[in-house]
Amino acid sequence: MRGAAKACANIALAKYWGKSDEGLNLPAVPSVSVTLDALVTETVVERDASLTADEVVIDGVRQEGSPARKVTALLDLVRAAAGVEVNDPRRFARVVSQNHFPAASGLASSASGFAALTAAGARAWDAPLTTEQMSALARRGSASAARSLYGGFVELPAGVPGDDALCARMLHPSDWWDVRVVIALVTRAPKAIASRDGMRETARTSPYWHAWLACAPGYAHAVKEGIARRDLEAVGATMEASTFAMHASAWAAVPAVRYIRGVTLDVLDRVEGLRRDGVGAWATMDAGPHVKVLCAGADADRVAAVLREAANVIDVRIARPGEGVRVS
Ligand code: DP6
Repeated sequence: MRGAAKACANIALAKYWGKSDEGLNLPAVPSVSVTLDALVTETVVERDASLTADEVVIDGVRQEGSPARKVTALLDLVRAAAGVEVNDPRRFARVVSQNHFPAASGLASSASGFAALTAAGARAWDAPLTTEQMSALARRGSASAARSLYGGFVELPAGVPGDDALCARMLHPSDWWDVRVVIALVTRAPKAIASRDGMRETARTSPYWHAWLACAPGYAHAVKEGIARRDLEAVGATMEASTFAMHASAWAAVPAVRYIRGVTLDVLDRVEGLRRDGVGAWATMDAGPHVKVLCAGADADRVAAVLREAANVIDVRIARPGEGVRVS
């Protein structure tokens, strides 16, 4: 009747941007990520036959409209997998989800959220799902969520249109490599453009869209090889190339899809400065202005100290490779 799950967010080292099948939410390009222990979502799904609709509370706030509909859409997939009739009047549940993220971060992650929701829902309805099947369901909520079912270093292949079974897979466990991701929060403002809309507009209007599609598989391949060799410079440099190619394709959309702000550039200058000083540190940004810096475990405190000096940096956190989803 009740399922609880904890899932960590993840950061793409080779970026997913764009879809091959919007209906099934299949990525157009392969991506590679590391799961992050510092950013955790905890979700409880409790079936309640007295409800007439799913009730969704995220970070203490009752959700209506689109966020609530997305949760219900994912729970409908879990209910279908558990054999619950579509019109069963007793099918609804109460969902309470808490993000344990740095204060008011704007990092609030759909990846950890949908991963935890899928696993907690599967437990609540006793759906006989493997981790692969949960990853495929979480993907329907957010493709990056497919990766958060797993700990450590994770790959999500590109999807062939129609392949609803597409799921992520773990490449190496969290203790494979002693790296850190130093997260610099640069604003409390909410995301300007949802990644889904940004991807759609990039594919629809950007003259660089096809160039991105052509380059992205090479980045994913090089990142995987670099992780296998524990080659930080190769992974870091390729992660930056993937990041800037993704953002460049989005900037060339009409109108531009731009997530990078002035404060982002200031942090990027500091990361370059660290490298000039001989510290192995490489930056990445997602569908927002925050900067995440990949470095060796031994350098994390120095990197964090330099980022803290930047004007406009609100908070700096150090994350290690984290574990996959845990259900209770
Ligand atoms: C830039 O997984 O949030 O963070 O599948 O449309 O929900 P949807 O998108 P989402 O996109 C994440 C994009 C990214 C890069 C990445 O995580 O790979």
